Amino acid sequence: MTINSNYNNLNKSYLFSTIAKKVKEYAGANPEKKIIRLGIGDVTLPLAPAIVDAMHRAVSEMGDATTFRGYGDEQGYLFLRQALCGYYSKKSVKLHEDEIFISDGAKSDIGNILDIFSKENTVLIPDPVYPVYVDTNIMDGRDIIYMNGNEQNNFLPLPDKNISADIIYLCSPNNPTGAVYTKEQLQLWVDYALENDAVILFDSAYEVFVQDKELPTSIYQINGAKECAIEFGSLSKTAGFTGTRCGYAIVPQELKRGGVPLRELWLRRQTTKFNGVSYIVQRGAEAVFTEAGQQQISSNIGYYKQNAKHITDTLSALGIWYTGGQNSPYIWLKCPDGMSSWEFFDYLLNNANIVGTPGAGFGANGEGFFRLSAFGSCENVHEAMKMLKRSV
Ligand code: MLT
Repeated sequence: MTINSNYNNLNKSYLFSTIAKKVKEYAGANPEKKIIRLGIGDVTLPLAPAIVDAMHRAVSEMGDATTFRGYGDEQGYLFLRQALCGYYSKKSVKLHEDEIFISDGAKSDIGNILDIFSKENTVLIPDPVYPVYVDTNIMDGRDIIYMNGNEQNNFLPLPDKNISADIIYLCSPNNPTGAVYTKEQLQLWVDYALENDAVILFDSAYEVFVQDKELPTSIYQINGAKECAIEFGSLSKTAGFTGTRCGYAIVPQELKRGGVPLRELWLRRQTTKFNGVSYIVQRGAEAVFTEAGQQQISSNIGYYKQNAKHITDTLSALGIWYTGGQNSPYIWLKCPDGMSSWEFFDYLLNNANIVGTPGAGFGANGEGFFRLSAFGSCENVHEAMKMLKRSV
């Protein structure tokens, strides 16, 4: 018997587990300190009333023999996939229900999608980046090429004709930098993917935070994207589902490689390894896309945006370089006084009792940078910024 030795090539623990462990130790040693968590992007506002009502109704249905449901539809309930088609049509993107697969979140989908691709593929991943893209490919032993995100390119790397790759990861608005590709920039990526017969895995988990109308919120707003891209969406940050769990993958009918529709492979994979998201959660997710649901979640997003503004105003006042915050819940800042990411992490925790995420955890190019999340409570964010002003 042998284990998957690729696991030996991973960092010892997942970034957010390492941080949680460090914070737990600090809290244990300093029980009198109030620690403010602006690290992992976990929402703090409760589910909106329209969602809660829908879930209550679904619970009642499940407790009644005449409305009880067992296994759900393979790709997720039609009512939710239709609601998503309606949502995308407002972005001028026409989808067919068959192209949408409901899941328990974008993180699982982004890891699981690799099942349908050969391990021989070369993967192109931006650095800095959400660590799941890297770790899941290391687990499979794929070759990874990194593309540099840095201050010079505003953390938005563009295709390089001299590099050939088969699978390309893009996240816009970006986690961790908050940078957002323009339509023109995404068009360059789509053209590159089509030329190279590559597939783009587009993570749109933060699309709801885009407020500049001219910026794209789906890769399918770009010409040719349906022939080369899979999009992953999530209700975690959009509607406070980090604990409730619901996301979706879109695999367009037009997307084929080697003459095989990728949609068929993903359907085969999901029907074999996944039994769907609970009816109750899917009813809650459907409510997100009703008029009331959309109004309520946009008020929650507005709340987080106020937090982001307060953080960026504070950084501006302190003369600290940053990006993000305007179209994203993440603020990506340069560590003051030339501190390394982990030095600044320890400094902030010890001197201001603030938890953030060290940029180095997102890749080599993240060294010297730091991520703050706007998902805390308004009171905590204000308190944290007061502490930051005092300590920096
Ligand atoms: C983050 O903080 O980067 C995210 O919350 C992680 C995730 O969505 O899994």
